[in-house]
Amino acid sequence: MESKISVLISEEEVDKKIRELGEQISKDYAGESVHLVCILKGSVFITCELAKRITVPVTMDFMSVSSYGDGTKSSGIVKLVKDLDETIEGKNVIIVEDIIDSGRTLSYLLPVLRERRPKTLRLFAFLDKPERRVKEVPVDYCGFQIPDEFVVGYGLDYAQRYRNLPYVGIVEV
Ligand code: IMP
Ligand code: MG
Repeated sequence: MESKISVLISEEEVDKKIRELGEQISKDYAGESVHLVCILKGSVFITCELAKRITVPVTMDFMSVSSYGDGTKSSGIVKLVKDLDETIEGKNVIIVEDIIDSGRTLSYLLPVLRERRPKTLRLFAFLDKPERRVKEVPVDYCGFQIPDEFVVGYGLDYAQRYRNLPYVGIVEV
């Protein structure tokens, strides 16, 4: 079934914002290197775009967590599905998340990663839906704050579809 998608954030706006945030991160970590921790699968697109715009040395690793729930809402139960390949001890870690909704995924993940003694630990959220927050999480770098709408594109899916859209859109149901 095809759903109608309306554009919320255009490809150009995303591109501009990622360049700005890449510059900001490059300044903040001048003389250091950064280790991007990409939360699969949604954050793959944004992690690659961001990495391309950072001018200090960058390494990347991937982890996968699942929050059980129906297609559009998380249940609050988070499970670590795939762990990182490398240690983060002593590294400047930036967690890259596609979207912070209830905040449950990150409030589970942040202490797990902090326990592994990174040098620094910050959070990058491409999209943020502050209205939906159940658990407070500190967002250090934010792409866009958006209203309480279900969005797709730029890595975000609806039942695994639409991740490849080059813009952020709202699914009309
Ligand atoms: P949280 O634990 O509620 O913050 O959920 C975050 C996760 O829910 C994200 O990483 C997405 O996988 C998913 N999610 C939340 N809102 C949306 C949305 O609008 N579109 C697609 N996925 C979403
Ligand atoms: Mg996700």
